[in-house]
Amino acid sequence: MIQADVDLQPYNTLAIAARAAHFAQVENLDQLREALEFARRKKLPILPLGGGSNIVLTGNFPGLVIHLDNPGLEVREQGERTLVTAGAGENWHQLVMATVDRGLGGLENLALIPGRIGAAPIQNIGAYGVELRDSFSSLEALHIATGEMHSFSASDCEFGYRDSVFKGRARDQYIITSVSLELHGEWHPRVDYPALQQYFREQQIDSSGLTPRAVAEAVIAVRNSKLPDPAQIPNAGSFFKNPIIDGDLYRELKKAHPDLVAYEVGERWKLAAGWLIDRAGWRGKRQGAVGVHERQALVLVNPGHGAGAEVTGLAQEIAADIHAKYGVELEPEPRFYP
Ligand code: FAD
Ligand code: EPU
Repeated sequence: MIQADVDLQPYNTLAIAARAAHFAQVENLDQLREALEFARRKKLPILPLGGGSNIVLTGNFPGLVIHLDNPGLEVREQGERTLVTAGAGENWHQLVMATVDRGLGGLENLALIPGRIGAAPIQNIGAYGVELRDSFSSLEALHIATGEMHSFSASDCEFGYRDSVFKGRARDQYIITSVSLELHGEWHPRVDYPALQQYFREQQIDSSGLTPRAVAEAVIAVRNSKLPDPAQIPNAGSFFKNPIIDGDLYRELKKAHPDLVAYEVGERWKLAAGWLIDRAGWRGKRQGAVGVHERQALVLVNPGHGAGAEVTGLAQEIAADIHAKYGVELEPEPRFYP
């Protein structure tokens, strides 16, 4: 089950060539425990891997990569609510479409996000005004240090914007094995996001009688119009989080740049990092093997299959330029390994 010296290029959507000292493909809990025992004996660091769409490999990984490939999809109707439980290895988009096909609403705005279900809670995936936490019920995870299974409720997960307990206090301590989502019979489309409104206008679709499938189709069309398909142009989605700044800096920036794109969050403001990077002149720039996507400046691309250092080098240059021009700190969204 455990292989040595494995090429990780097919396992990360930035298509970075890097090697794993050890690699385990696990399809069930017994195999996961076996893999963890191997890592414990050899004192190896662990990298739990799903679809590899939110990681940057900055070099070879000296430990054990555990590719979560456990399947399983269970749908239970409980009166007004439907509980969907999926193994960590299930594909996220296929799960969304399976629920939409049953006429269930709740996940349609999250269509076409790459990756697997086990990773979805890590950064509380979100798109078009919806986040995983809006339908999240619970998850099961194996505690690496003790081998015990722990159950996490929504509040245990401490979800935030692109954040959860698994990026904070519980970082590197658990492997998520399954996730349960709660979908409701009573459903209201959430289509306030400007790009969705524009799509419905252009297609002359009346947004009052929408079905979950119609919303999913709109999301897919909008995403396809600006986000590169990793199979064609390697990328990891948004490379930076949208920065949240205080009111003083926001007012100063808005005065200098009246068309600044920002959304109010409580007393603070979330800026569109893509707008900042675009206005700073980076959109469509190519630098060696890597570059900035021409239709979405928040997405760094790796068409030349460059090394991780090329990607992180470009990211650092962009972040430094944004800081110099706007006084705003950009924080990468994907996690860097090793
Ligand atoms: P991986 O990249 O394999 O892993 C990501 C992190 O989670 C790693 O730290 C890994 O160790 C950890 N991890 C993975 N599985 C487990 C597990 N079972 N247990 C414990 N830890 C685990 N994200 C959004 O939120 N919204 C978007 O709209 C969006 N659009 C994207 C568009 C494109 C084109 C791309 C390439 C990416 C996009 N992303 C988006 C980012 C990415 O798809 C999500 O973060 C996704 O959830 C990552 O899933 P994955 O299986 O590929 O995770
Ligand atoms: N914009 C520009 N130029 C650009 C890119 C964006 O001016 O090159 C402007 C847009 O015109 C728009 C605003 O910036 O007014 C926001 O752009 P967009 O709607 O494309 O969304 P985003 O803020 O860049 C976020 C998420 C995406 C998610 C979309 C849709 C983050 C870091 N990114 O992108 O998530 O799909 O909203 O909800 O929050 C990801 O996390 O990997 C990801 C793709």
